[in-house]
Amino acid sequence: MLIHSASQLITIAGGPQRGQELGNLGIIPGGAVLIQDGEIAAVGSSSELRSIYPDEPQLDAGGQVVLPGFVDPHTHAIWAGDRAAEFEMRLQGKSYLEILKEGGGILSTVRATRTASLEKLISETRPRLWSMFKHGTTTAEIKTGYGLRTVTELRMLQALLALDKEGPLEIVPTFLGAHAIPPEYKDRSDEYTELLCNTMIPILHEWWSQRALGYELPFVDVFCETGAFSLEQSRAILGKARELGFPLKIHADEFDNLGGTSLAIELGAASADHLVATSREDIDSIAQSDTVAVALPCTPFGLAEEHYTPAREILAAGGTLAIATDLNPGTAWCESMQFVLALACRYLRLTPAQAISAGTINSAAAIGRADRIGSLEVGKQADLLILSIADYRHLGYRFGTNLVQTVIKKGQVYPN
Ligand code: NIG
Ligand code: FE
Repeated sequence: MLIHSASQLITIAGGPQRGQELGNLGIIPGGAVLIQDGEIAAVGSSSELRSIYPDEPQLDAGGQVVLPGFVDPHTHAIWAGDRAAEFEMRLQGKSYLEILKEGGGILSTVRATRTASLEKLISETRPRLWSMFKHGTTTAEIKTGYGLRTVTELRMLQALLALDKEGPLEIVPTFLGAHAIPPEYKDRSDEYTELLCNTMIPILHEWWSQRALGYELPFVDVFCETGAFSLEQSRAILGKARELGFPLKIHADEFDNLGGTSLAIELGAASADHLVATSREDIDSIAQSDTVAVALPCTPFGLAEEHYTPAREILAAGGTLAIATDLNPGTAWCESMQFVLALACRYLRLTPAQAISAGTINSAAAIGRADRIGSLEVGKQADLLILSIADYRHLGYRFGTNLVQTVIKKGQVYPN
């Protein structure tokens, strides 16, 4: 299939973009892209490709923007229930960490998720994944972390594998058994940490090798935060996971700086995420490392807080910056990477071009997939979007409506 007559074909060719390279869109005006067997077979101008491939079925982009599908590298998209009542409590003055301390927050979603069957988990999650897909996300990382005990954590992974097989959204799973201290381990967080290290992570490894044939090992992530896991506990959990060969991620500096960012760098994590209370020193060290800095602007926005990731400082220091929704029932129920781009332009002070690179090639790098997705280059997976706009800067500029007209996933066309 030949998609032709894009006003701007945004290729984002050349790999992940560090520091001031961010926003290098590689635009082909009047561009076209040839798709064969679910992969990109050629990229060029419409006149050129139409004359070389006259017999290919054609899809006219109608003078609109064509770009790679968004990659959402940090979500908690699988859960049961909702937290509308807590949203109201927060508006009345209670803080997120206060609610968590009182057994609400993440723990209230844990209660709902533990009692949900596999079928219920799948059926509550499926519409969110469709909403993400219709808003242009073609691959998403999704974390467990609302089970906090082996059986439920594995059930969440089983649901994610089933939803990935169902498609069309492609799922990159993450084990976040270290999301919170479960109620039965209240005031015994060291014991829960030991359980994670000595039982849950080894069982996960065994389970995965039997149940997830053909899948790479999932990421292992930790919420390194006051009231969740300390730096030492986070080091023990991630260290154990690394020993078994799992790739790593970390939630660091969302509210307090416990040293999670330097731990991520020390252990060679693929990404360190949130990075709001990050120190000058940590900004410099992450910028010099291969760990991707993932900003989640929906989270402070969703909590009505004023502090955002110091994205411009990270870029000035030469770091690789990505953006994600953080989709979750507590702080950020948002399925739209387009909305993340709009927030990134305003609160992270990115240009639309920088936000687009941060939500495609760099977010692919944050989940270790930059060799397969995140740009329109020959040999990559054919994951792309046709938007209803002629100038890419309308992304970020406009918000609250869906600008995606057509999603193409592995060469399959899904009109909106
Ligand atoms: O990334 N910080 C921890 N986890 C989520 C929130 C999850 C929840 O509140 O349910 C986050 O913001
Ligand atoms: Fe998160």
